[in-house]
Amino acid sequence: MKIFTILGARPQFIKASTISSVLKNFNHKNIEEIILHTGQHYDLKMSNNFFKELNLPRPKYNLGISSLSHGEMTGKMVEHIEKKLLYEKPDKVLVYGDTNSTLAGALAASKLSIPVYHVEAGIRSYNKSMPEEINRILTDNISSYLFCPNKLSKNNLHKENIFENVFVVGDVMYDLFLKVKTNVNKKFNLGKYNLSKKKYIICTIHREANTSNAYNLTQILEALTEIAKETKVVIPLHPRTFNCIKKNKISHYLNNFSILEPLSYFDMMGLLMNCSLLITDSGGLQKEAYFNRIGCFTLRNDTEWQDTLDNKANILVGNNKNRIIREFYKIHSNKKKFKKNIFGNGNAADKIVKHLINEK
Ligand code: UD1
Repeated sequence: MKIFTILGARPQFIKASTISSVLKNFNHKNIEEIILHTGQHYDLKMSNNFFKELNLPRPKYNLGISSLSHGEMTGKMVEHIEKKLLYEKPDKVLVYGDTNSTLAGALAASKLSIPVYHVEAGIRSYNKSMPEEINRILTDNISSYLFCPNKLSKNNLHKENIFENVFVVGDVMYDLFLKVKTNVNKKFNLGKYNLSKKKYIICTIHREANTSNAYNLTQILEALTEIAKETKVVIPLHPRTFNCIKKNKISHYLNNFSILEPLSYFDMMGLLMNCSLLITDSGGLQKEAYFNRIGCFTLRNDTEWQDTLDNKANILVGNNKNRIIREFYKIHSNKKKFKKNIFGNGNAADKIVKHLINEK
């Protein structure tokens, strides 16, 4: 059986590593995985390093498609993925999450009548101005098998009349976290970053809404400047955010923070485990803060991870300077609850692979 995995952006390398490592155990049963990298993320620190660190097999194909408008990027990806699918004739196509690479892969495969398996199906922010929300809705609608990380995402699919082949399996990111947690605990060296436990917060920013206009980004940077008077603010800077800062000549704000290049998975988990708070607009990090029992401020007005809000572990702070600062000073009165198992039991990848190899 030939399984064709399509990925392209940093969070997908992380997610795919869990399933690839389970699939390797089935190599002897004639299960072959072929990986196609669209090229959407291409910096060493955003791409190649993750393949090495997470033991993800090298992609057979790299399309080198990046830094284009949404339409051009997605369109070019569909065109080139289709050619590779026609050549390889896989039995199944595996896509992850909600990026342009996800949608392009699902679209190319479904038009060729190749069954699409979507990992992290059914998540919704109910905000269609997010490109990721469009990618999720469309990908879910053309996928043959939908693997949901939690019950809420299954319910979301039901609301859209998608009932067939919907499975709640848990979150593959939680699988990976459980696998590396002990090692990170033992081996991560905070001193390398000149930081002390609980004496800093981490912030990541990369969403289009926060980086496509200088006003929103400036609001966030001004709020962080205020917060930096109280505690150290560490920012592993996404290239998109760096480009926006450079273009708008607002790099003076960066002097107020500890700026790092994009981090490895191991170092990101190490820094997260030891920080006092995460401030982010990332989908994945909201969950990873929860896994680590760390409180989170989300720099958006909505989230896909409603459960983290219900447990008061996550607060939506938007991108308004005063609101962010106000919430920061309120934080100590906020009682966080971290219920177990809202992201499954750490065996999502095993469950997905069972479906992959058993379904005809
Ligand atoms: C993409 C995904 C988002 C995911 C995120 C993780 C879409 C619509 N968005 O957003 O769902 O959470 O990846 O990071 O697919 N750039 C570089 N080097 C890189 C990658 C990007 O310099 O390795 C710069 C380029 O100028 C590029 C810009 O960042 O144009 C934005 O990259 P893009 O891939 O469009 O989106 P992300 O913000 O990374």
